[in-house]
Amino acid sequence: MSKKQQYKGKEIVVHFDAERCMHAGLCVRTLPKVFESNAEGPWIHPDAADVDALVALIESCPSGALRYDKESQREQAPQYNSVTVEKDGPLTIHANFTLNGVKADSPRATLCRCGASKNQPYCDDSHSEAGFSDAGELVASNPDDPQESGLLEIKTLKNGPLYLLGPHTIYDASGAVARVCKKSALCRCGATQMSPNCDASHASIDFKAD
Ligand code: SF4
Ligand code: FES
Repeated sequence: MSKKQQYKGKEIVVHFDAERCMHAGLCVRTLPKVFESNAEGPWIHPDAADVDALVALIESCPSGALRYDKESQREQAPQYNSVTVEKDGPLTIHANFTLNGVKADSPRATLCRCGASKNQPYCDDSHSEAGFSDAGELVASNPDDPQESGLLEIKTLKNGPLYLLGPHTIYDASGAVARVCKKSALCRCGATQMSPNCDASHASIDFKAD
């Protein structure tokens, strides 16, 4: 089956990109009649639930693996860009963003921060197998600063961190605001001692990623 799939319903077309899925299972747990786990063939049945419930579920898929086309409705980027440092897991992006200069097809993405993903820069759930451990606890530095709207440009630096340019707020794993920033360099090799920031440890572990 193709990695990029689309399923047409009466009112909505559901798109699924298998390479972006981090296998958190939210879809199959929340709407099991629509998202059929372990199906051998087509596994998404868009008409098996109320369309508003389906839209709400798709917009909560953290990785952006799910998105939709619907005539009268389009998913909006949030007012403020957020980056959440997940416990033992990826960076969850919810933002108006570009990745390496390309406008994202969804305002949602999960980006690898353990270094083990085989689908860099996206999370592919390799952190589980790799035993990546980081609590995602951050010391708040300026949580009360006003947030600003605008485009967030995310770039992957070769063999190094994610470079973020543009307004964004970094949340810790508990959902508390840690930092309101305009630029940051976030580790994606998993070796930093200053999580979530890059501390140049990527060089000492010979991290390789485009
Ligand atoms: S990342 Fe999205 S598509 Fe993948 S299991 Fe989770 S909710 Fe479903
Ligand atoms: S990317 Fe991990 S320390 Fe720089």
